[in-house]
Amino acid sequence: MITKAIILAGGTGTRLSPITKTINKQLLPLFDKPMIFYPLSVLMLAKIRDILIITNKKDINSFSNLFGDGKNLGIKINYMEQKKANGLPEAFIIGEKFINNKSVALILGDNFFYGQGFTKRLSKNKKLTNGCKIFLYKVKNPQDYGTLEIKKNKIDAIKEKPKKSKSGLAITGLYFFDKNVVKFSKKLKPSKRNELEITDLLKVYKKKNKLSYEFMGRGSAWLDTGSPKNLLSTSEFISTIEDRQGLKIGCIEEIAFNYNWINAKQIKKRIKYYGKSEYSNYLKKLFPNV
Ligand code: G1P
Repeated sequence: MITKAIILAGGTGTRLSPITKTINKQLLPLFDKPMIFYPLSVLMLAKIRDILIITNKKDINSFSNLFGDGKNLGIKINYMEQKKANGLPEAFIIGEKFINNKSVALILGDNFFYGQGFTKRLSKNKKLTNGCKIFLYKVKNPQDYGTLEIKKNKIDAIKEKPKKSKSGLAITGLYFFDKNVVKFSKKLKPSKRNELEITDLLKVYKKKNKLSYEFMGRGSAWLDTGSPKNLLSTSEFISTIEDRQGLKIGCIEEIAFNYNWINAKQIKKRIKYYGKSEYSNYLKKLFPNV
């Protein structure tokens, strides 16, 4: 059973410069919340409550100002530093102590997931104790991601940002790993762009016949936040759904309350912390008695 997860929220956000010149990418707004609320909410929906946020040294304060030790959200949050953008698998080397020889999930701090049945999918896959599980999503621009090619229902190839992909299947930034992930990550060699590649780590699992995948159906959304245009269109997507339903996507306090992890007093504290805002008004409306 997976009870721990890492959110990787480092990097330089070069493709979004100058926006990211002084602000961590994962703190930029996706409509009405900082980007990191969304991956955090995914973990919370999966009832994963022991979380490590890995980010740049200069940004640790910003994240810990937002979430503290997680108590006000009914979870536990630790913070660690990634010195340089040395690649995603480095998260497991940095987080070795936190992982403590257990299975662990990794979610990238800039990944936005949404869709009916997603929580159920996560809960089912949380049971993983052996191997690695990835989630695939059909995209128009596979060249921008890690991809998976499938032949006769079997994994044929894993590639990082290939020029061409037959399947058009991107590997999304949510991964479930067994306890061997630290050991395997330590054995990886940097790629041509001088980073440890998550796709190389997946290849290790594939070689051992321990890599499995699931398709995220076309009725779900895995949206990009990597360019200014994508940042805007993902914000618009969130705004459209929230406006229509009057419900918020990625409201971490709402999730925590619904799971009985926090009480009215803690909600009140969060409302006070956020100050007068639309987000606070939403919380007040949800919990009129606090
Ligand atoms: C990274 C991974 C890639 C994966 C993607 C998902 O790419 O290297 O395999 O498909 O995240 O968001 P990057 O964001 O570093 O370009």
